[in-house]
Amino acid sequence: MIKKNFILILFLLFGVNSYSQQYNVNYDELEINPYSLPSILTSYGGMNIDNIDDWEKFRKQEIFNSFVSNIYGRVPGDIDTMRIITKESDGEAFDGIAKRKQLTLVLEENSRKIWIDLLIYLPKTDKKVPVFLGYNFFGNHTITDDQGVGITNSWVPKRPNLGMNSNNASEESRRIMKNRWSIEKIIKAGYGLVTLYCGDIDPDKADFNDGVHSLFYAKNQETPSPDEWGTIAAWSWGLSRIMDYLEVDEEIDDEKVIVFGHSRLGKVALWTAASDNRFAACIANNSGCMGAALSKRNFGETVEVVNKAFPHWFCGNFKKYSNNEDLLPLDQHMLLALIAPRPLYVASASEDLWADPKGEFLSIKHASVVYNLYGIHGFSSSEMPKINSPVIDVVSYHIRAGKHDVTEFDWEQYITFASKNLTEKTEITKK
Ligand code: GCU
Repeated sequence: MIKKNFILILFLLFGVNSYSQQYNVNYDELEINPYSLPSILTSYGGMNIDNIDDWEKFRKQEIFNSFVSNIYGRVPGDIDTMRIITKESDGEAFDGIAKRKQLTLVLEENSRKIWIDLLIYLPKTDKKVPVFLGYNFFGNHTITDDQGVGITNSWVPKRPNLGMNSNNASEESRRIMKNRWSIEKIIKAGYGLVTLYCGDIDPDKADFNDGVHSLFYAKNQETPSPDEWGTIAAWSWGLSRIMDYLEVDEEIDDEKVIVFGHSRLGKVALWTAASDNRFAACIANNSGCMGAALSKRNFGETVEVVNKAFPHWFCGNFKKYSNNEDLLPLDQHMLLALIAPRPLYVASASEDLWADPKGEFLSIKHASVVYNLYGIHGFSSSEMPKINSPVIDVVSYHIRAGKHDVTEFDWEQYITFASKNLTEKTEITKK
């Protein structure tokens, strides 16, 4: 059993490329059909938006509502109670440079529960620290070889077995994702890291029998209605619940929480920042189709492909846009614009054509008009920065050489971005 699960994880890690090869998608700039993007600064009723007031009070809300009803789905309710069980409050990690905390949050509604295991590393300081918050794909124990980290989910024996998720987590999968998390660098730069397994909120399977959705079902309801949340919106909602916790954790500076995510979890980071203003900044690493990339370009993964391969990620209403991107009253540059004026970092990788690096760049370029309203300059030229030449400011972008991944190079840029935007002016005492 353990071996089988380990092989499944390896497949999920390294099988993504072969998976993308199954689909016949366009990788040729010359084959892109002419498309027109909806203007961010013209309301659906035709009004020209040229000031912050009209943007914030009207257009921003209009765009947000359109994303909710067409793409991500509506969150059907709020939880009754969240219980915090502290498992460890003062662990030592990384040769004593970090403090490790582990908690379980129990979310309860309609007498149903889900359990979330949170892993927190903090630099040792007596000041509140800014943190990066992001989901991991396979369990907290997979991101480090720190033996002090509990094998996610194994601590709560009463949990149902949810199939391909960390209920199957084992010693064998410890540290398997270590390369994607530069934890010591983060700590040494004066930041904390808060992470959790995305399947604790909703296992990444094409059904809605488990995870958070079922907590809000009406009587006899078995699946979300077409306008209700898919898994991506549920994961974003989960990060907002973690923010609820961070607001009461006295060691963390809740005004400096940077939401981070890679790939599908990068899509989540963007929707989280767009729907919850408490997040101070956002980093979307290789987020691709329905992340930062423009859908109407039809380059790499398409709406049809994402809807087929991951029918549970977006709401039922989104299915009508499969192979029909022209009909979409939105594109992802508008999602990025919802994050303004907060610092935003979009990152691509040169070999990650499936995620459409150019589409990711054009998206942040087009979103810049909203940053401009706030007097912040973004990208004005359609020319992409050169490979491995990050542009780091409030609106940031890089294209790294290499494949779909998160590397040490990426983290170095994210730390610079955080320092420049959130902490340069405040003094952090590092011990
Ligand atoms: C697949 C999927 C992408 C997603 C990626 C990931 O490749 O098509 O949209 O970003 O998985 O999350 O690894």
